[in-house]
Amino acid sequence: MINVTRENETVATGGSPAKLLSLFATPVAKIPCPFGTEINGDLAAAVLSRSAADIKDLSFKSETVGNLTDWGDPEVDRLTSWVLRTARTFVENLRGEPLHRAVGAPAASDVRLAANRSWASIYRGGDHHAAHFHPNTAIAAVYYVASAGPCDLELADPRANVEFFDPGISFANEGRTVRIGSSPGTLLLMPGWMKHSVPPYEGADVRISIAWNLAYSFSANVALQPAGD
Ligand SMILES: [Fe+2]
Repeated sequence: MINVTRENETVATGGSPAKLLSLFATPVAKIPCPFGTEINGDLAAAVLSRSAADIKDLSFKSETVGNLTDWGDPEVDRLTSWVLRTARTFVENLRGEPLHRAVGAPAASDVRLAANRSWASIYRGGDHHAAHFHPNTAIAAVYYVASAGPCDLELADPRANVEFFDPGISFANEGRTVRIGSSPGTLLLMPGWMKHSVPPYEGADVRISIAWNLAYSFSANVALQPAGD
């Protein structure tokens, strides 16, 4: 089944029949965690207290090894549960239907969101992360734990082929980068294919964020159709 949304023709009742369509909007959610201030101090301490073997230096930032959800840390688990619930609500609000209905399953328990990968990133002065996306990910989730400076994330124009030709005049924000500023306690949700980057961190302290790669997990009741059929 080819996924096509039809833009219906409307019958003009007078005046100009012309209309302007704004198409292919990308949903990105910015959500304050209701218990963020309760957990951020402990979360930051838990990340920074990991041994050197648990943190890899990538030269442009440091990152925890393995999955945060394997730590058995109650604050990490509480936050992850909230992120999963919030991401489900995010998708259901956008679709206007429960998640299981989207795949024709009979019960809400037939579809759940799962954290396939989770890790903490540590940025010190000058650290950054070049443009990238999260493969095999339905929803990329980023939560800011600690920072005295700005928690900036830059989103690149995701429309295919915009970078291949510059006509000199833009009429659709082609190639525009959007910088989202957040503070500790904020969660960002976006499609996994959304290309994003982290500009150099200028703070004198440490900036810590946590990321989860979320994907759908289906019960045996769900018979997914191969893409393109
Ligand atoms: Fe990322």
